[in-house]
Order: sequence, then C-alpha cells, then structure tokens
Amino acid sequence: MSVLVKNMSALQQDWPEPVVRVQSLSDSGITEIPSRYVKPISDRPSDVITPSGCDGFFSEGVDSIPIVDLGVEDTSEVRDQVSRACRDWGFFQAVNHGVSPELMDRAREVWRQFFHLPMELKRPYSNSPRTYEGYGSRLGIEKGAILDWSDYYYLHYLPTCLKDFNKWPALPASCREVIEEYGKQVVALAGRLMKILSASLGLKEDFLQREFGGDDIGACLRVNFYPRCPQPDLTLGLSPHSDPGGMTLLLPDDHVPGLQVRRNDRWITVKPARHAFIINIGDQIQVLSNAIYKSVEHRVIVNSAEERVSLAFFYNPKSDILIGPAKELVTPESPALYSPMTFDQYRLFIRMRGPRGKFQVDSLMSPRPSGQSCGGRGSIFNVD
Ligand code: OGA
Ligand code: NI
Repeated sequence: MSVLVKNMSALQQDWPEPVVRVQSLSDSGITEIPSRYVKPISDRPSDVITPSGCDGFFSEGVDSIPIVDLGVEDTSEVRDQVSRACRDWGFFQAVNHGVSPELMDRAREVWRQFFHLPMELKRPYSNSPRTYEGYGSRLGIEKGAILDWSDYYYLHYLPTCLKDFNKWPALPASCREVIEEYGKQVVALAGRLMKILSASLGLKEDFLQREFGGDDIGACLRVNFYPRCPQPDLTLGLSPHSDPGGMTLLLPDDHVPGLQVRRNDRWITVKPARHAFIINIGDQIQVLSNAIYKSVEHRVIVNSAEERVSLAFFYNPKSDILIGPAKELVTPESPALYSPMTFDQYRLFIRMRGPRGKFQVDSLMSPRPSGQSCGGRGSIFNVD
C-alpha cells in the first residue's frame, strides 16, 4: 500500500491522543507549560526584530511589511506596489480595502465571545482530522508531536456545497450572520486582489481566478485563539509555516501583536495598521507564478499578559483542478519549477503533518538536472 493511501486512511480516524484545550491549560493557572508545548531551543522565539525595536545596528532602519492603499485611483501604482511586495515579502497590509471596519471589529469580537463561552457549549463543535471543521486544538496527527499554544475554529465558506451552518457556532446569537456577511465582503476583496495580482504578473486580469476554478473557488476561515501563556519564551502560538492555499486575508488582533514574518533569516514582528488586512501569498500562487511571487514563512508568538484573536480567511483554488506554473511565465530561462497537483492532494500532506515551514511547497519542485540549486527532491508523493 502506498504511503499516501495508508495516511489517507489514518485521516479518517480521530486524533492520536486525547484533545487538550490550550485555553483550559491557560485558565488553570499553571506557571509552567507542559513539556508537549516546549519547543527545541532552536525553534524558540528569540532573535526577534519589531519595527519599533530596530536600533542603529540594522542599517536599513525600520523593516516592516509594505502597506498598500487600495483606495488610490492610480491602478498602475497599486499594481506596482503589490508586485514589489509579493516578490520581496510575500506579504503586505491592505488599507482602504472596502471591507467595513465596523464589520471587521464585530467579526473579531463575536469570535472572542465564542472562545469565552463555557467549554460545554464549545465541546459539541470539536473537530476531527478528517476535515478539520469545527473547534480544534492541534494541527497534524503525528502521535507525540510537540504542539502549538493555540486553539482554533475552522469552517468552510465556499463552495456552497461545503458550507454547513450546523458546523458553524450557534452562539453567540449573531455569530452565523456576522460570519456570513464578513465572508461575503472578504470574498469580494479577494476577487479584486486576484485581478491586481494577475495584472501585476503581466497576465490577463481574470487569469488567476480562472486558474482557481472561476466561480467554484474554495474559501474557509480559521479563527485562531492564542491564550495567555506563562512561559512564552519556550513555545509558539503557531509554528513556522507557509499557507498552503491561494491567498490569505488575515484580520489580526487589534491590540496584541504576535505574527512574525521570516525575512532574510530573521523574524519580523508585524505591527498591524488600524483596520488593515494582512494579505499573504499562499503556496498555490507561488506555484502558479512559478515562484515569482513567494509564499513566505510566518509564525506566531504568544505572551503572558494578553490573549490574542485572529481571523485567517483562506482563498483557495477549486480543490480538484490541477495547479501548475502558468505557461505564460515559463520560458527557457525560467523553466517550470513545480509539478502540477490538485489542492486536495496537496492539502492532505498539510493535514497529516501540521506546520512544517516551507517543506511542503519545496517538496513539489520538479526534479531538476544536477547542479541546479532549486531542490530536486522530486514529487511530494515520494516523500515518506
Ligand atoms: C494562519 C496564520 C497568523 C496569526 O492562521 O495561517 O498564519 O496572526 N495566522 O494568527
Ligand atoms: Ni498562516
């Protein structure tokens, strides 16, 4: 039996160990975190620069992800800024993006309220590794794995056939209605960004959307809840990863920082602008753009003073169409770097293994003649 098939059947089952809610651990008042959450020394959150914390030692001065004003009239200016941000950083903050600021605040608060409901009311939504939908506390099914300091809620917004209100929280009372409206506005913004991204790659405006499956794209929401942590220097809220899907629109906490983006082997703490969305390129757009745009590694740190809530909205290709480098971007000088794969196949690996830095997308690289430096690890299916 192939490794893939064996692991697919593993995904039908439940979590390998009893689920522990990080929020319950935090609320219990422990002063030391369980060893399951202690990261190896090399993975702990040292070596950090925050934009405000840079001193003269870093000659470039303040380093922070670019801010793009989507409200400006000059579309070629917006396109150029997005293009630079996606090549250099894989991340940018979007302001004047058209999503209602009040709705953004309401969405974050309704989810904060959900996580503060009594455990008996949340438990019925507990998720399984098969679809991950619902209330969860771990990513990946590896027994004995070191876990991240966070709980989350994951749900499908699109396609409509996967959207199931029964799997969305019934409480707080406005939750479903707020998610519905929030999803609608964020999908509209994502559609607009897809056009800007296509044009900024020199492609027709509708290119990426068509490659993603037109109206049949997927969209899902993961709400991350990072409880207070008594030993934040020993663990992470979310381990380094690149987002597997197309593009992520993140609504960060309005006053607690935590997201860090990898930049030249350092971790930069993002300082969110008010009512901005943090947009990042996922692995599927890295593949489609033949690595012109980068899906950059990021992680989340936690702190002992305050909890943090973020809403990550993932805009993904239809799950069963092949995604490979756009032929318009493949030339003799820049040959195709990746073998095509469907998002369904790709996501299976993420679901089994949990966050693994850039391992997954790098594993997709087509075998290259020796002497070239871009991987040569073969198809992801050959990885054990
Ligand atoms: C994610 C993610 C960042 C954050 O959910 O994929 O990277 O700030 N979240 O919570
Ligand atoms: Ni992410």
